[in-house]
Amino acid sequence: MLSPTVVSLLLPLFLLSGDARHAKADPCIAMDTGFNLLVFGVDGKDWNAGTQDTWTSEGSATDITAAANRPPFDGANTTCYLAQFYNAVYVLNGDASDASAVYIYDAGAKSWSKQSVDVPSGGAHTFDTSDFGAILDHDTNVFYAMSKGEVFFLNMGSLTAANGSALSWTDVGAPEAWGDLSSYEPTMALAQNHIHFIGVPGLQPGQADIFVIHFSFFQPEAQSYGSDFSQTHGQTASFFQTDGVQQEFAFIPDDGSATYVINVESNSTQTLAGPSVKDAGAKYFAGVTSLVQLSAAQGELQFLPYTQESDNSAASWTKITSVSVPAGSDSSSSNSSSSSSSSSGNSSATGSSTASGANASSTSSSAASGLSATAAAAAGMQTLMMTTLVGGVALIAVLL
Ligand SMILES: *[C@@H]1O[C@H](CO)[C@@H](O)[C@H](O)[C@H]1NC(C)=O
Ligand SMILES: *[C@@H]1O[C@H](CO)[C@@H](O)[C@H](O)[C@H]1NC(C)=O
Ligand SMILES: *[C@@H]1O[C@H](CO)[C@@H](O)[C@H](O)[C@H]1NC(C)=O
Ligand SMILES: *[C@@H]1O[C@H](CO)[C@@H](O)[C@H](O)[C@H]1NC(C)=O
Ligand SMILES: *[C@@H]1O[C@H](CO)[C@@H](O)[C@H](O)[C@H]1NC(C)=O
Ligand SMILES: *[C@@H]1O[C@H](CO)[C@@H](O)[C@H](O)[C@H]1NC(C)=O
Repeated sequence: MLSPTVVSLLLPLFLLSGDARHAKADPCIAMDTGFNLLVFGVDGKDWNAGTQDTWTSEGSATDITAAANRPPFDGANTTCYLAQFYNAVYVLNGDASDASAVYIYDAGAKSWSKQSVDVPSGGAHTFDTSDFGAILDHDTNVFYAMSKGEVFFLNMGSLTAANGSALSWTDVGAPEAWGDLSSYEPTMALAQNHIHFIGVPGLQPGQADIFVIHFSFFQPEAQSYGSDFSQTHGQTASFFQTDGVQQEFAFIPDDGSATYVINVESNSTQTLAGPSVKDAGAKYFAGVTSLVQLSAAQGELQFLPYTQESDNSAASWTKITSVSVPAGSDSSSSNSSSSSSSSSGNSSATGSSTASGANASSTSSSAASGLSATAAAAAGMQTLMMTTLVGGVALIAVLL
C-alpha cells in the first residue's frame, strides 16, 4: 500500500505534467555502426543526424521514422543501445504497454521489430522493469541489468530483427560482498567486458565495484581510478572503438558538475567540463570521438568532442543543430498545461532518485480517472489531501 506521503510526492509529478490522457514521451539517442547520430522519439519522429562533422549544420538531419512496429517511446525510462557487430539498436522500456519488450531497430534495413521478453518474478529473483540499470556487453551482445540489487542477463544473440520465440531475463545473483544493494540505484558502465558500478555504498571517491562478465564474477575488492569523482548517482556512456571493445567510459553525476572519463586500461580519469545543460534525466551516448547529451525536457542536444587516450581538458560542449528537439519533448502534449514542459524537466530531475517512474505513472493514471486535470490544477497541489483505498484502483481526492 502506498502511504499518503508517497502519494503526495507522486501526485504533483502527475498534475504538473498535464493531461493524463497524453502519455509521457521519453526520447533516446544512439548511433549506428557508421557513428551516425540517431535521435528517437522526438514528437513522434526519429532522425538520423549524420556523422559528427554535420551536427552543426542546421536542419540537415534525415527523418527515418518508420511506422511498422515502431515503439511509441512512452516508457518510464527509455534507453537505447548499439549492438555494434550487428548494426542494430535495442530499445528498452520504449513501450509503456509492454515494459519488458525489447524493440529492435535494424539500422541497415531502417526497420523495427518487437522482441517479446519474459521477466522472472518471485522473491529476490524479481526483475522490476520499472527499476533497473543495464548495459549491453560489446563482445557477447548480452544485456546485464541490476534491479534492486540482483543482477540478470538477457542474451540478444545476433538479432537484428525479433525472434518468434520469447527471450528471457535470467538471474545471475547478487554481489553479496558489496553489501545489501536492494535500495541502490545502479550507475553502471561498460569497459573491457567489465561492468563498473559507481555509487555503491561504502566505496571511496574515485572507486568502482566491478563485475567481470566473462567469468560472471563479482570482484570483491573495489578498483581505484586515480581520481576523486564522488560516489553519487549519475549517467554513463562507453566510448566505442571503430573495432574492438570499449576501454573508456564517461560518468556524469546527476548534478552535471563535471564529466569524468575513466580509462580502465590505465586506471586513470580525466575530469572535463560538465554539460552546460543540467538535467539528471538527460540521456547520453558516446561514439568514437564524442559524447552526446540529450535533454528532452530542456530541448537541448549537445556534444563534447573527445579523443581517446589523449588530453581532452580543453574540450567544450557544443550545440547540435542538425536536428531540432523542442523543449518539453519528454512530454508528448504540452498544450494541456502551459507549465508542463518546464515542470516536467524539474520533476524528472528531482523525482529520479525517490520514486520509480512506472510506479509513479501507474499510480498517477489510476488517480487521473477520477480527477479532472482542470479541477486539480485549480485546487493546487498543496491543498489536496489524498486517501488511498487498497483493493481497488480507487484513489479519492479531498479538496480542503
Ligand atoms: C534510467 O536508466 C538509466 C540507465 O539504465 C539509469 O542510469 C537511470 O538511473 C535511470 N533513471 C531512472 C529515473 O530510473
Ligand atoms: C531464435 O529462435 C530460434 C528457434 O526458436 C532459436 O533456436 C534461437 O536460439 C533463437 N535466437 C535467440 C537469439 O534466442
Ligand atoms: C590497473 O589496476 C589493476 C588492478 O589493481 C592492475 O591489475 C593493473 O595492472 C592496473 N593497470 C595499470 C596500467 O596500472
Ligand atoms: C498544440 O496545439 C497546436 C494548435 O492546436 C497544434 O498545432 C500542436 O500540434 C499542438 N502540440 C502538441 C504537442 O500537441
Ligand atoms: C527547477 O525549478 C527551479 C526553481 O523553480 C529552477 O531554478 C530551475 O531552473 C528548474 N530546473 C529545471 C531543469 O527546469
Ligand atoms: C510499487 O511500489 C510498491 C511499494 O514500494 C511495490 O511493492 C511494488 O512492487 C511496486 N510496483 C511496481 C510495478 O514497481
